[in-house]
Amino acid sequence: MAARRRIVAGNWKMNLDHAAAVALTEGVAAGAAGCSGVELILCPPAVYLEAVAAALQLADGNSPSGVTLGGQNMSDQPKGAFTGEIAAAMLLDVGCRSCILGHSERRTLFGETDEIVNTKTKAALAAGLTPIVCVGETLEEREQDRTAAVVSEQIAGSLAGLSAADLARTIIAYEPVWAIGTGKVATPEQAQAVHALIRQQLASLADADTAAQVVIQYGGSVKPDNAAVLAAQPDIDGALVGGASLKADDFLAIASHFAAAD
Ligand code: 13P
Repeated sequence: MAARRRIVAGNWKMNLDHAAAVALTEGVAAGAAGCSGVELILCPPAVYLEAVAAALQLADGNSPSGVTLGGQNMSDQPKGAFTGEIAAAMLLDVGCRSCILGHSERRTLFGETDEIVNTKTKAALAAGLTPIVCVGETLEEREQDRTAAVVSEQIAGSLAGLSAADLARTIIAYEPVWAIGTGKVATPEQAQAVHALIRQQLASLADADTAAQVVIQYGGSVKPDNAAVLAAQPDIDGALVGGASLKADDFLAIASHFAAAD
């Protein structure tokens, strides 16, 4: 079987302004050729999607640099009276190929349940967007030895009812909540163990071939100096990067570790 794709995404969260978003995009696009073998996705704040698309010279979702565009969140509804929301079709319309769903900040600060994440995932897939579905345990859950149970419940709930073909198109991001924005990265062994569990669960939800194709990213304080050991793990296929994605050099350095890991 062909090697799994490697994908590194930058989640800019609610940071930067227009000029900084364009400058960062240009920096990433200029260096992307040095990371061949790894796909790069930029997920800017929604109001800057078009500016980033223009800086990437996107046409039909493709750019000369190969870097693609993703949303940070979307509605589970296709259109209508949902003030402040953005539909999957709108993300596609401005050049997105993917969208982060169920990020822990959405789950904890905005009340997103597995059920909501599941509806959004289905809406993304139906529209032709690649969902990047986030899961991860809190520090308390880890300390209570409940990591496997919590992550497995999130996977089962968030991906319920997806066909094997849809699962194969879905990216999963394992982001332990205690590692997000804290500088505390999971050890490669901790991350690998959860990634392997997720892949096992995907095999039971679909089949072993499908599970072997699914890209599972790690997220949580990924930096240039810890990316290589994470990338060396057999079930870590990429990264979802927060803080370090705000600097082109750091983001590219992280990506280059995943490019070099094969
Ligand atoms: P940090 O890389 O800043 O820890 O954020 C991780 C994250 O939440 C990416 O989605």
